[in-house]
Amino acid sequence: MTHWLTVWRAAQLVGVSRGVLQQQVRDGSLVLTEGLVSTDELLRLYPATQLEDTGILERVTTIRDEAFGRRLRERLLPSQEVLATRLFNQTQELADVRRHLQRYHGLVVALQDRLHALQAKGATPLELAELQDFVDEGLAAALATEQADLLTVMDDMLKVMSAQVTVRPSGHEFTVEGHDTLLQAGLRAGLKLNYGCGNGTCGMCKVRVISGDVVRTQPCDYPMSEAERAQGYTLMCAHTAGSSELTLELLEAGGPQDIPQQQIVTSVRAVTQLAPGTRLLHLQTPRSHRLRFLAGQSVTLGVSRPDGRDVHALYPVASCPCDDRNLHFFIERHALDPFARQLFADGIKAGDAVTVWGPVGEFVLADSQRPLVFAACDAGFAPIKSLIEHALALDAAPSLSLFWLATKPDGHFLENQCRAWGEALDQFEYELLAEPDITFGAAQLAAAMRADLFDIECEFYLAGPEAFVSALRAELRASGVPAAQIHTNVLLEPVGETA
Ligand code: FES
Repeated sequence: MTHWLTVWRAAQLVGVSRGVLQQQVRDGSLVLTEGLVSTDELLRLYPATQLEDTGILERVTTIRDEAFGRRLRERLLPSQEVLATRLFNQTQELADVRRHLQRYHGLVVALQDRLHALQAKGATPLELAELQDFVDEGLAAALATEQADLLTVMDDMLKVMSAQVTVRPSGHEFTVEGHDTLLQAGLRAGLKLNYGCGNGTCGMCKVRVISGDVVRTQPCDYPMSEAERAQGYTLMCAHTAGSSELTLELLEAGGPQDIPQQQIVTSVRAVTQLAPGTRLLHLQTPRSHRLRFLAGQSVTLGVSRPDGRDVHALYPVASCPCDDRNLHFFIERHALDPFARQLFADGIKAGDAVTVWGPVGEFVLADSQRPLVFAACDAGFAPIKSLIEHALALDAAPSLSLFWLATKPDGHFLENQCRAWGEALDQFEYELLAEPDITFGAAQLAAAMRADLFDIECEFYLAGPEAFVSALRAELRASGVPAAQIHTNVLLEPVGETA
């Protein structure tokens, strides 16, 4: 029997990204009916799904890289209470369907009896015989046990383990897995949600439940009024999905202009040497005061030196907004950057306080379904990494390509990360180039892109020093890429005083 699925769920079932299915819809190889995919259509395109009767879970949850896959497997099952609530709701649905079926069956049997009685009384024989055949065939078809197809069984299973949430009015969708709250799951899926404290006190994550159930999983102090409760309002940071399908009404941020300026005192979690001239600074926000930002944006970091003077500098965030407590920065050694000098002199250590102001910047993912091309030079990899992680969370781009130019011998300080993405993702390709001359390097990079990308409609994201960004932008424009499809982030040279 044909079963209808959303594109999101279909992608989960066959283990590809949503962007891949959307691309197939666009090129006509996958047909949608009223926005849904039929299981028949899905099996026609992905017949291997039916053949794999073992390892289904692994296939369903095939994700990105091994570490991420492991984390997902650990998180896959929600708490016992939530599981029990979802099972209860699904069992109730099944019981309702069964009750209806029994009533229909009883009705048809009664109809059959009446027909026999009418026949015995001598009603029109031909008509009665036809009607009798019709009822007999209908009853036989209703009672015939048809084996459910594998995708339907898998979909039912997924409904218990991971609930599907639809957002109105945007139409965005995300799944809630494991112990995630609605807020955590929405952020993980790359949604620009409105929230503040993250611990149930500010009320900023308030949303209206249109259909489905929620279950409270965290304590919350926010005083929700009776009227709000009656209208179905709930806090996303303190609740998870109680039913396998949930529809929420909420407003999402449209862009950087909707993200408030914040000031947060964070603590240093770790400082890691990535290369002789580059360090990773890992900051952690307080649990009740997280940084709300968009992938690709920057913040100002400030510390107090032992001599009492404050030093600060602007850096792009290198991590994904889906983990708003753990902020990563790639900081390069630079004589004119007092914050970097402090860091490289081991003046910033685990446990130290670092103040964060921001976020700022318009270098964020455009609302587009085109293939994404990322180009970074040296530490320009930081905002590019954040954008790539966000794009992976959104799961909407048909393909991602990364080009990373290093102007120093140790410039590809996270080559392992690129390799991991490349190995885990079918739709991800990367190319690393090393060239000390920035303008010549940008031209080489453009030549590498020209091989297969300039003919396609892509969104281009460029980040790095001004010379790199302007040279590559000029190459792209000269090749006919429209200006609106080129997004740039120029990392300014520090101009502070020397030590
Ligand atoms: S984010 Fe503050 S109550 Fe949910």
